[in-house]
Amino acid sequence: MRICVSLRADTTHELLSRMESLPREVDLVEIRADLVRDLNIPSLLKNKKFPVIFTLRPLHEGGHFEGSVEKRHRAHLEALEYGADYLDVEGDLDLGLFQRNKRQARIIYSYHNFEKTPDLRRQLQIMVSTPADIYKIAAFGASYADVVEFFELLERARQAKKNVIAIAMGAKGLCTRVLGPARGSFLTYAAEEGDRATAPGQPTLRELLHVYRIRYIDSATTLVGLIGNPVGHSLSPLLHNRAAQHLGLNLCYLPFSVEELEPFFRLFDYLGMKGLSVTLPHKQAVLAYVDELDPLASRVGAANTVAVRDGKRVGYNTDVEGFLRPLSERMSLEGCRAVVLGAGGVARAAVVALQQAGVAVTLLNRTFRRGRELAQALGADVGDPEQLPGLSYDLLINATSAGMHPQVNESPIPVRDLCPGTLVYDLVYNPPETLLLREARSRGCAVLGGVEMFVHQAALQFELWTGQRPPVEMLRDLVLDELGKA
Ligand code: ATR
Repeated sequence: MRICVSLRADTTHELLSRMESLPREVDLVEIRADLVRDLNIPSLLKNKKFPVIFTLRPLHEGGHFEGSVEKRHRAHLEALEYGADYLDVEGDLDLGLFQRNKRQARIIYSYHNFEKTPDLRRQLQIMVSTPADIYKIAAFGASYADVVEFFELLERARQAKKNVIAIAMGAKGLCTRVLGPARGSFLTYAAEEGDRATAPGQPTLRELLHVYRIRYIDSATTLVGLIGNPVGHSLSPLLHNRAAQHLGLNLCYLPFSVEELEPFFRLFDYLGMKGLSVTLPHKQAVLAYVDELDPLASRVGAANTVAVRDGKRVGYNTDVEGFLRPLSERMSLEGCRAVVLGAGGVARAAVVALQQAGVAVTLLNRTFRRGRELAQALGADVGDPEQLPGLSYDLLINATSAGMHPQVNESPIPVRDLCPGTLVYDLVYNPPETLLLREARSRGCAVLGGVEMFVHQAALQFELWTGQRPPVEMLRDLVLDELGKA
């Protein structure tokens, strides 16, 4: 499996010093020579610390090089002369010229399309009529139906014994970058840390190695993932992949940025995935894509988890149990009275959970009508947030998004309305301590933060997919550590 870090720098000197500081785990370095202003090919290649792919991407293929075709020919020949290990060249150049002069080097014939995924079968057919060592096709994947085609391309290339690099660009293409090598892609590209991706959707080296653990992915790896929109900042990939590592399981968890479920599930089936975490905005819509529904998920009317059982997709809701577990560790719930703030999906799972545990619930929501609808549907009492001081209760739950990052200075209720001696459970987990919790503490309330529910619902998901329960303490430390860094 080859991981190639794509380096971009303004000067030859900077490029070399960045190459110097790369970790040894890197297999190859792509030099994006088109971005270097004072390009000195002999100096670059004589001082290289890794095998190098020399790339001089012209404007018309999404690069920055503005010189003529002759200049590109000359630069590539010079790169061969000074020991480039690979040349990445576009189809408008004379590939035969490089083949004749390549000595030990290998020629990558590359094609880019930043707008759409073309007919990949035909594209490869056209390309292989020109001899090259490796064929690279990188194109924008607008939908997961396109992404499936990239995996099919890899499969065809394997059968035809051609070296191919197949990459879907854009957010949806992440899985082609992570899973590609295990499915025959000649290499995958990684960006350096920070904001230096050379292509849209490119993961960093750290993500590939330490979050997705790409070196361990093979044909036996159990694939699971997260669907939602957005998913970019989710902690779930780190959490589940670390859990797998901890338990010694061959499992990879990937985030999928999903707008439409139908094409995504085609990919899900194609990849033989075993499970999903489902987040906003798909928790309800996903019900149409499962074959069976767990009774609890059915009662909530939403699934946050899919697990494949005997070839069937089953929908579950671990938010309910994930909500209850940390709570029942803190207090005995039988005969309790609770107030739930909010009327969205989170509130719904909380109300169902509380009712299961024998707790009488009053629902208060900023928009009364919405609160009333949910309360009526679930058989809870309903009121207006202003009525809170007049209510008698043991437990107050924030199931609204008030106080969630970045609105960290918001609280769903004024501090004066907090009743001393009650337990305040905030389901917001970022930040781990919300304004509501700080104020509750100052009023003499007991507090419980949303990180607890987050890690419990995740641990329950993991157990549904693998039959094994990761240690919640480890997950909690990981989440708190990550949130502390942000
Ligand atoms: P989710 O499915 O995650 O619960 P949602 O459906 O968007 O998300 O629901 C968010 C809940 O937080 C709603 O109950 C919302 O109140 P409205 O129904 O009045 O919109 C509530 N909410 C969001 N911001 C709030 C704030 N600043 N103060 C009080 N309630 C808030």
